[in-house]
Amino acid sequence: MEHETFFKQASTSTLKDPFLSTPRRSLAISRRAQEMQASPLRKLAAIAEARKKQGTKVYHLNIGQPDLPTSAAVFEAIRNFNQPTIAYAPSNGIPAALSAWRNYFKHNGIEFEESEMIVTAGGSEAIIFAMCAVCDANDEIIVFEPFYTNYNGFATIADVRLRAVPLSIANGFHLPTEEEIEAHINPRTRAILICSPSNPTGTIYSRAELEMLVRLVKKHNLFLLSDEVYREFAYEAESISVARFSEIADRAILLDSCSKRFNVCGARIGVIASHNNAVIQTALKFGMARLSVATLEQAAVAPLLNSPDAYTKPIVEEFHRRRDAVYEGLKSIPGVTFYKPEGAFYIVIGLPVKDSEHFARWLIEQYQYENETVLLAPAQGFYATPHKGINEVRLAFMLKVEDLQKSLMIIKRALEQYQRSNP
Ligand SMILES: Cc1ncc(COP(=O)(O)O)c(C=O)c1O
Repeated sequence: MEHETFFKQASTSTLKDPFLSTPRRSLAISRRAQEMQASPLRKLAAIAEARKKQGTKVYHLNIGQPDLPTSAAVFEAIRNFNQPTIAYAPSNGIPAALSAWRNYFKHNGIEFEESEMIVTAGGSEAIIFAMCAVCDANDEIIVFEPFYTNYNGFATIADVRLRAVPLSIANGFHLPTEEEIEAHINPRTRAILICSPSNPTGTIYSRAELEMLVRLVKKHNLFLLSDEVYREFAYEAESISVARFSEIADRAILLDSCSKRFNVCGARIGVIASHNNAVIQTALKFGMARLSVATLEQAAVAPLLNSPDAYTKPIVEEFHRRRDAVYEGLKSIPGVTFYKPEGAFYIVIGLPVKDSEHFARWLIEQYQYENETVLLAPAQGFYATPHKGINEVRLAFMLKVEDLQKSLMIIKRALEQYQRSNP
């Protein structure tokens, strides 16, 4: 009330007080907030929902939410939680989760002490912590496009600029030459961020590609941030951790998560790990500010981290079958550009259309084959460079093999019809 009176007086006052005559600041939201993009993947989701209400079956090839059941061990661990209070966990993680992450890494040939890790709210928080730990406002991080769209959002939160090095569908989105990457490094560059196996392309970087990155980060004194949340999903090639390169122990930062490999996306358990003590101590300070990660979920995923294979082996086999089904199915669609993704559960394909967003919208809004249609993710949202990926879409393999085959058949028929009406 006092406040209101003050402003009424201020706005009608004829006093020459410099404070009162200063125009009131607008209530505009921040530049950072305006930069924050809404998830491009959800753009067409509302149309899909409306279509479903009309009785059309929609195959979702657009999102990366695994469709397989979570291990019973997770629910059992929650039932067995016997503390009287759900208290804050330590900011770096509960001892059982830290020791489980250590065991999990060891199992994968990676050595980290518990003091070299902070448990995070998913891989997402690990990435934000890493960006904030190595960059000041307006510093730059090199990424390879197409890249996981939320890197944009994380960079906006951290006030960091992403500088995108373009990759090409022609070589399955593998890395370009050392010189091409080097041309994107400038005095503001602080790090290179990679994701292998990759979302959205399924590409796994070879040892030679990783060695090139190791050379570059050493030469230009950069950090190497490595998002390895799809580690197990490796079909054609070995997925090699950056933590295996001892010569960059001080500059490698590993970002990881239980979400995908254990089908526990909603549990929100990830980790940031590095031999660089300053990085981990900084991440711990960020961790202290947000107090802790969910206590129960940390306890719940620990059994899986301690003994991952029993759960991951069958689901990786299932995704391998799905990858093969998609790869074979794509061969029968004329005009589509594609490659064999070595890992993860995604592929970016080129369609014989001018604008994949227009096609995806038409597909979900207007098309049906036997009262069924498909929801796709236009790939432009995975690029930072305007107009790149304009004829590409990402497919996620979150359906069983028969449904993937059916979806591809629908896309094939839809393309034939679309091309006739949009020559
Ligand atoms: C490449 C990549 N990194 C990180 C994440 C973040 O996952 P979460 O925060 O659930 O661990 C995802 C989720 O889709 C992803 O695809």
